[in-house]
Amino acid sequence: MKKILAIAAILTLTFSLVACGGTEDAESTETKNESSQESNKEDKKAEDKDSSGSDLLIVGTEAGFAPYEYLKGDTVAGVDMDICQAIADAMGKELKIENMQFQGALLAVQQGKIDLVAAGVSITDERKEQMDFSENYIDATEVIVVNKENPAVSEPTGEKLKDLVVGVQTGNTADLWVSDTENAQPKEIKRYNQFLQASEDLKNNKIDCIVMDEMPAQELVAASDGTLEIVEGDPLFVEQYAIAVQKGNQELLDQINEVIKQLKEDGKIEEFLLNHTQQQ
Ligand code: ARG
Repeated sequence: MKKILAIAAILTLTFSLVACGGTEDAESTETKNESSQESNKEDKKAEDKDSSGSDLLIVGTEAGFAPYEYLKGDTVAGVDMDICQAIADAMGKELKIENMQFQGALLAVQQGKIDLVAAGVSITDERKEQMDFSENYIDATEVIVVNKENPAVSEPTGEKLKDLVVGVQTGNTADLWVSDTENAQPKEIKRYNQFLQASEDLKNNKIDCIVMDEMPAQELVAASDGTLEIVEGDPLFVEQYAIAVQKGNQELLDQINEVIKQLKEDGKIEEFLLNHTQQQ
């Protein structure tokens, strides 16, 4: 009996040890994972420095915005990525692309989690207070996309989008624009993280239109099997794209500006645009 009790005791003890060990392990793997990812990153950086004297240049983007950034297999391609590659090359660094949500990328650069954002980011006064912008490299316009079968808007001005359900990408200038009642008085604004979701909803008449940047709109329409179209005419508003860095990171900004200047002079930006339009 004593023996049985002893065995039972040992069993319970082992059990609870295992159980404890289990949770402890789970916790420590989590932290270990994080720190090993960190240290991997550090190792990687150190390695890069040792082997080639280079380092990583980390860019954040949202890769649902062809021709500027889109997924090609599992790599991110596009005009912005070509520009970033040129910047990394000029700096002798390895380019690392992080695909995230648009608003998340704007936040990550402010927090110094990434070095730069290249995501067709429009320069605005408000954003200028939160991050620093490079020279602009693209003049962009904003347009309205409708369902061809059932176009809810016919005027390019959108007639203030009165009583419409309007789709935008969260945190885009289009989102800010339609949210201002001076510009638009929609019935509802639906915010999406990905334009693909918005276009699905537009195809299925769940929303009346999408307000977005013209070239990505053209790509979205081209990929819609003839179901969507852009409302012809003057654009809703115009803007300029630039690359954003953390406030005060003048050194990186200078390097970016030098590359952008050169790319513009060499007509490379147009070349990149041609290479990446109607790709999908
Ligand atoms: N140009 C617009 C803005 O700055 C939209 C940019 C969206 N970019 C993207 N990669 N999803 O707000």
